[in-house]
Amino acid sequence: MYRTNTCGELTLKNKGQEVTLCGWLQRSRDLGGMTFIDLRDRYGITQLAFNMETNPELCEKARKLGREYVLQAKGTVIERASKNSKIPTGEIEIEVHELNILNKSKNPPFTIEDKSDGGDDLRMRYRYLDIRRNPVRRNLELRHRMAMLVRNYLSGKDFLEIETPMLIKSTPEGARDFVVPSRMNPGEFYALPQSPQQYKQLLMVAGMDRYFQIVRCFRDEDLRADRQPEFTQIDCEMSFVHQEDVLNMFEGLAKHLFHEVKGLDFDKFPRITWHDAMRRYGSDKPDIRFGMEFVELNDVAKGNGFALFDNAELVVGICAKGCAEYTRKQLDALTDFVKRPQVGAGGLVYIKYNSDGTFKSSIDKFFSQEQQKAVADRFGAEPGDLMLILCGPAMKTRMQLCALRLEMGDQLGLRNPDVYAPLWVIDFPLLEWDEETQRYYAMHHPFTSPKPEDQSLLDDESRWGDIRADAYDIVINGVEVGGGSIRIHDRELQNKMFHTLGFTDEKAYEQFGFLMDAFTYGAPPHAGLAFGFDRLCSLFGGADSIRDFIAFPKNNSGRDVMSGSPAPISQEQLDELMIDVKQTAKQ
Ligand code: AMO
Repeated sequence: MYRTNTCGELTLKNKGQEVTLCGWLQRSRDLGGMTFIDLRDRYGITQLAFNMETNPELCEKARKLGREYVLQAKGTVIERASKNSKIPTGEIEIEVHELNILNKSKNPPFTIEDKSDGGDDLRMRYRYLDIRRNPVRRNLELRHRMAMLVRNYLSGKDFLEIETPMLIKSTPEGARDFVVPSRMNPGEFYALPQSPQQYKQLLMVAGMDRYFQIVRCFRDEDLRADRQPEFTQIDCEMSFVHQEDVLNMFEGLAKHLFHEVKGLDFDKFPRITWHDAMRRYGSDKPDIRFGMEFVELNDVAKGNGFALFDNAELVVGICAKGCAEYTRKQLDALTDFVKRPQVGAGGLVYIKYNSDGTFKSSIDKFFSQEQQKAVADRFGAEPGDLMLILCGPAMKTRMQLCALRLEMGDQLGLRNPDVYAPLWVIDFPLLEWDEETQRYYAMHHPFTSPKPEDQSLLDDESRWGDIRADAYDIVINGVEVGGGSIRIHDRELQNKMFHTLGFTDEKAYEQFGFLMDAFTYGAPPHAGLAFGFDRLCSLFGGADSIRDFIAFPKNNSGRDVMSGSPAPISQEQLDELMIDVKQTAKQ
């Protein structure tokens, strides 16, 4: 038997037992008369003890071992003289009488402990060593546990997990596809799925009624902390449901996860329309762990001779409670923050409501004390508060103020990762105008149904921007963790939608013909949603980056620095695939 126990389970209850443990040498301490080794495996750490007096030969052997050697130790469980209350095995140690080196190890390039001295790049290059560290291992354990909870929950609600193909047809909507050349069909390409959207709809036509899949998706888009080129969705679809049924079902799943993993219980998740979310928070994924809602000021701010306000489409601000004492330096830093290219505001106006009831602002020249009081009243501000105001084109200004609101939330410690504030954002616009290509795109995807009461607007091009969709996102702490919609199941309506998106009949048929054909054979009303599983895990794990919850993630340039992909392929492979790289590079 390689081992009788793991390194995380022995306690005083096992005192006197003969055991065999296997693991990695985390650390050794040579105290002259005694040598101690911390032996680590996935389950924990157990101290091995070697006595120079009773077993000098073995002690000498133990002293020579390096970090990360793989060891097998046989010995007796004894009570420790100096106990360690921080670990479950801290009251015992193993008095070793046989020690086998199962494998040697080079000295690792960074310390494999909770706080490592390795930088991001180094840890990614040696990810298999990084995963030996508790924080990473725990993240992967959390991910496994959540996947099991999801599977059991959905399976208990009659959802079937069905696999859909990974090599599919490229579609022009959405993000860029990763494509795969087909050797047997020279010059032709598969695409890796951005999501199983069309297949899950086909499964509804096929009568499967309730489908889910924990599935890998691929998108060739710019990367951020919460975006990877390959990521995992909990992808779901249901037949014969209204929006209310879908929201309740997946709110149930989210609540189940919160209850099981975090011990948290929630009332009904709040719902807010996309329009209100933009107006109140400047974002379609508002962080509602804290208030600081937007206050629109056009009527009190305009007409006082301050041209920037007077000429702006929107004057809007937030009130930071108790921040009137902000120094010049702090206010300058906030101004610099909003002027950064990523935020893009021209400047920042502040009004301090001093504790003596007077006002001090960057617009004292234009606004009398009474006029500033009128603004403060609009905010519902009190002495001691700081008002921060931006102005400009409405949507842009709202998005800039959103960045400032989140920054203030961070500065004031209002975005505690242990506090969770889920909500639904509903009634998204159906279509989004793209300046560059001068056409409308589906905000969600082309199969999303307009709200029945807005359907007639499809006939009036001037109103396309006003059409609302039966589309919804689930947002937690300012992160979009999932999204979905009611699908169009009526072929006529789908045709209309394709026309709206600028597809000719031929083009639409070329791209989506198989789905359109399927819809002529009795497509049931259906709807669905997909959670971003990596995002869900990182939120539950209290981290910002999803990378920490993916065993082998890519870096910000989409590279796997460990395996060195992407990489060139051989000329033979290229020839076989009939791909002329030189020609492609020239184009
Ligand atoms: P959507 O495109 O909104 O919807 O994706 C669903 C969820 O997937 C997560 N997500 C990502 N996570 C990590 N890295 C990425 N690059 C990435 N892109 C998206 C987000 C998002 O909310 N087929 C539809 C769903 C449906 O309508 O049923 C879809 O894919 O958390």
